Amino acid sequence: MRFITCGSVDDGKSTLIGRLLYDSKLLFEDQIATLERDSKKHGTTGENTMDFALLLDGLEAEREQGITIDVAYRFFNTEKRKFVVADTPGHEQYTRNMATGASTADLAIILVDARKGVLTQTRRHTYIANMMGIRHAVLAVNKMDMAGYSRSRFHEIVSDYLRIAETLGFDTITPIPISALHGDNIFAPSEAMSWHDGPTLLAHLESVETATEEVANRPFRMPVQWVNRPNLDFRGFSGAVTSGRITAGDEIVAALSGKTANIARIVTADGDQSEAVAGDAVTIVLDRDIDVSRGDILADAKARPEVSGQFAAELLWMAEEEMLPGRSYLLKAGGQVTPASVTTLKHKLNVNTFEKEPGTSLRLNEIGVCTLATSRAIAFDPYADQRDTGSFILVDRFTNQTVAAGMIEFGLRRASNVHTHAMDVDQTRRAAMKGQKPCVLWFTGLSGAGKSTIANLVERKLAEGGRHTYSLDGDNVRHGLNRDLGFTDADRVENIRRIGEVARLFVDAGLIVTCSFISPFRAERAMVREMLEAGRFIEVFVDAPLELCMQRDPKGLYKKAQAGEIKNFTGFDSPYEAPETPELHLRTGEMSAEEAAEQVIDQLIRQRLIG
Ligand code: ADX
Repeated sequence: MRFITCGSVDDGKSTLIGRLLYDSKLLFEDQIATLERDSKKHGTTGENTMDFALLLDGLEAEREQGITIDVAYRFFNTEKRKFVVADTPGHEQYTRNMATGASTADLAIILVDARKGVLTQTRRHTYIANMMGIRHAVLAVNKMDMAGYSRSRFHEIVSDYLRIAETLGFDTITPIPISALHGDNIFAPSEAMSWHDGPTLLAHLESVETATEEVANRPFRMPVQWVNRPNLDFRGFSGAVTSGRITAGDEIVAALSGKTANIARIVTADGDQSEAVAGDAVTIVLDRDIDVSRGDILADAKARPEVSGQFAAELLWMAEEEMLPGRSYLLKAGGQVTPASVTTLKHKLNVNTFEKEPGTSLRLNEIGVCTLATSRAIAFDPYADQRDTGSFILVDRFTNQTVAAGMIEFGLRRASNVHTHAMDVDQTRRAAMKGQKPCVLWFTGLSGAGKSTIANLVERKLAEGGRHTYSLDGDNVRHGLNRDLGFTDADRVENIRRIGEVARLFVDAGLIVTCSFISPFRAERAMVREMLEAGRFIEVFVDAPLELCMQRDPKGLYKKAQAGEIKNFTGFDSPYEAPETPELHLRTGEMSAEEAAEQVIDQLIRQRLIG
């Protein structure tokens, strides 16, 4: 049985876990002796009581600062059960650790200090525990000894908590008044609180139904971690069964393709097996050759997972940098990896009231419900049905940092009813009629660096050579298509996303397209690059030092920005991420616009896009 303990700093988490280990007699004589000695030296609990929290201080820093800063897993058992407890930190910035601990837990102990009552953290942790699929909540009202073992205080806190927690979907919420320090209602019923008619903490932990028991009764799922093909005679699919059970002969379906086959063999390290259940690591051999690759899910043929490129999901944002709709992240779900972006943030969640709030982006530790679109369709289950196949993470494509944890609510089928229409006249034909290879020349750089001037000259040269072109420019597009957008990060992402789509259409029309936009973020430039065939996106870094751009100041905007009349001005109070490997780097402080344009034409020739 796996559980997590969550609470604010000082609510007594470590003491509670220490108490559980101590009372379950899992400590050895020497550990107890050390604990007694340490309690005298560093203890914060007074003369003759042991400071159980000291037992858990795996990290020296934690002892010094008096805070807990990592997920620590502890093991203990009673006669009835084995327990794994994740000690998760209370500080807000460690919400991601809490989510990590919660993702595999059956139960959450939400600790509240009897003197302080329900806090923001209490609600946040309750919400995350529920969102991560924990079915059972225990409201442990701790430090009852310091609240005079007061029955009315306990009931006050309980009703305060239930008012909010009952709106979530827990199977059970069990309030227990405790004193972790003195052991009241932990293993033995408290004499001081004989009014408590519920179970002790341990009796409850021993009796609650675990997710592992339950998961075996759900439909069979095994995400394929590896296609095992040592020779031509053997082809097996290896992975861990995440839910359900299978027997040799059963019919399974490959989630992505929908192709079915029967199980010929279930191979394990100890030889063949007739059956496998949730938790087993196995290699499955099928009776037919069907297309299954890494990341696909083998599933019960009667309960195929969903397959979609669009879905609604709950996101817990875990990065310092805010979430920007339209930005391309890497989505990882089991072994499936695909570019994905948030199409819309439907609403944010207020963790105090559990109410929906409007919003345009998510910041660190915020939770929101979003729709997401993936580049390739993925196989999944709603998280409420299957935790393993219903969750994913989002990864920043440049830093490789995990930026969000996601729980899929449901797939959106709308998109699958919109089919791409195959046209008789296609890009190849349109391009051939114009005798050219369509492509995008993407000019990026600060305002005043010379993007539009160079693009204009390039287009003139191309036209003189009989090429068919089109030009997209920040100032023009922002008067029409994108007139609803301003200059926040989120708006700039959306600006470039739309322009990327338009540029792609013009390429499809067979044109050479020049695009002049500051386009300050690498992620969006990379996204447009990926929309096109390889070699058809030519990134031109129009590079001029900020001082030079300010001197030129063709539109007088730098002056205004300096005077504070314009906000979020690139180079001032909004960042510019210079290209790392552009196809062409033009230092416009050191050459004329004419020379720069010549270099662009040369680049097109070098890439054999024009003759
Ligand atoms: S982008 O950042 O979203 O790519 P875009 O190239 O479309 O910007 O528009 C930039 C143009 O808008 C600038 O050349 C300038 O004329 C004008 N502009 C107005 N306000 C700002 C601002 N805050 N930051 C940058 N450009 C601005």
